[in-house]
Amino acid sequence: MSSADGFTFAILGAGGRGDYFSQLIERNPRAGQVVAVADPDLARRKTIADRHSIPESMQFEKWEDLLARPRLADCVINTLMDRLHAPSAVKALGLGYHMLLEKPMATSLEECIAIERAAREAKTVVSVCHSMRYHVTYAEVKRLILAGAIGDVMSFDQLEPVDPIHQSHSFVRGNWANESRSTFMLMAKSCHDIDIVSYLLGKRCLRVSSFGSLTYFTEKYKPPGATLRCTDGCPAEPTCMYSALKIYYPDDSGWSSHAKLSKDRAVRLEQLKTTPWGKCVYQTDNDVVDHQVVAMEYEGGVTGTFTMTAFATEGRYVRVHGTQGWLRASIDKNEIEVVRFGDYAKQLIKIPPQSGGHGGADENVLDNLLHAMRMKDPNAVLTSPTESLATHRVVFAAERARREGRVVDVNPNDETRMANQ
Ligand SMILES: NC(=O)c1ccc[n+]([C@@H]2O[C@H](COP(=O)([O-])OP(=O)(O)OC[C@H]3O[C@@H](n4cnc5c(N)ncnc54)[C@H](O)[C@@H]3O)[C@@H](O)[C@H]2O)c1
Repeated sequence: MSSADGFTFAILGAGGRGDYFSQLIERNPRAGQVVAVADPDLARRKTIADRHSIPESMQFEKWEDLLARPRLADCVINTLMDRLHAPSAVKALGLGYHMLLEKPMATSLEECIAIERAAREAKTVVSVCHSMRYHVTYAEVKRLILAGAIGDVMSFDQLEPVDPIHQSHSFVRGNWANESRSTFMLMAKSCHDIDIVSYLLGKRCLRVSSFGSLTYFTEKYKPPGATLRCTDGCPAEPTCMYSALKIYYPDDSGWSSHAKLSKDRAVRLEQLKTTPWGKCVYQTDNDVVDHQVVAMEYEGGVTGTFTMTAFATEGRYVRVHGTQGWLRASIDKNEIEVVRFGDYAKQLIKIPPQSGGHGGADENVLDNLLHAMRMKDPNAVLTSPTESLATHRVVFAAERARREGRVVDVNPNDETRMANQ
């Protein structure tokens, strides 16, 4: 089944992520080729089919139709929306596919457990797309910690500044605005963060507490007289930074292409009158939090916090405090500052930036998957379902802690241990 030059791939879900991985496979001569695609959206399906010359017979409307056939490729790229991950992943693994599974693994703990079990039974290579583990700056932080650069880690703080416009796009108007259509915010956006700090520590999280709410993107902050849509002659539109006309209408709008709106201005204007992208951010059906904090206790008394907030910019930061010093990493700036106690000399480490999605991390995810497939070694990925299940457990526990207003133990019978390498 492998193509002469590499592997064969089937893409489930030809949206933003499916399209991106299809392009990465096309650009990577050693990857192989995409031979099948499934998506109910004809235009998206055709974009991928045309790029890879996929015949009609290998183009499917639904993932269910593709996976109803005997195995068609070596590997499934599972870039379906969150709630479709579990049924499609379990089915694909039963057919013996390798898989790149977008995060989150699934939207319930039971489903995550089912995927992890199916992957172990299939013995194929499965990588959950926790791209942060593959980011060069986080990789260097991990290396520094393991090398003892700051002694034994005692505590950490991780910040995820989502950015207000990004928040409005994805978590107020978009795919992840409403939990019933996707999942809660900590899972949708920040399973990356909980996963990466757990990976950096190489320890198991024991218990968590959490606070957070949806406060700003609500009726309470609606400007006086604001209309339901920015295109309805809203009196606040000229001064509102969330105006859909400002975010999606300019011809060079990156957000417009993320939303897959038409390039034709007249059509795009009509789309803003009818799709969620034109809705007032203070008057839609969003229900996920716009800021949240998680406090965590790990093995060995290590403590840490994670903050997700819509109201900050400049990318992720992590600060790690050890017995011999501390470090602060700015992930998007590819910089790490290390301070050793004693002489208090500061060392600024500049990591050569990588090009590509998520600072090159997406490219590294794919390379690592290909390497593991070549080696036929499920343990050669950094982000196996077993690793991912362990950190998803922390996310579920933290969300429970927030909702129930109490400290929640992370399942002590966790069958997994975080690898320390
Ligand atoms: N790793 C990351 O950093 C990262 C970044 C963004 C998104 N994601 C994750 O990637 C996944 C996809 O996100 P996206 O932004 O590409 O979403 P998207 O909505 O752009 O793509 C999902 C696609 O699935 C298609 N689809 C719906 N039902 C289908 C079915 N029955 N069969 C086949 N296709 C079907 C939709 O038409 C759509 O094209 C999500 O789980 C998301 O959380 C991960």
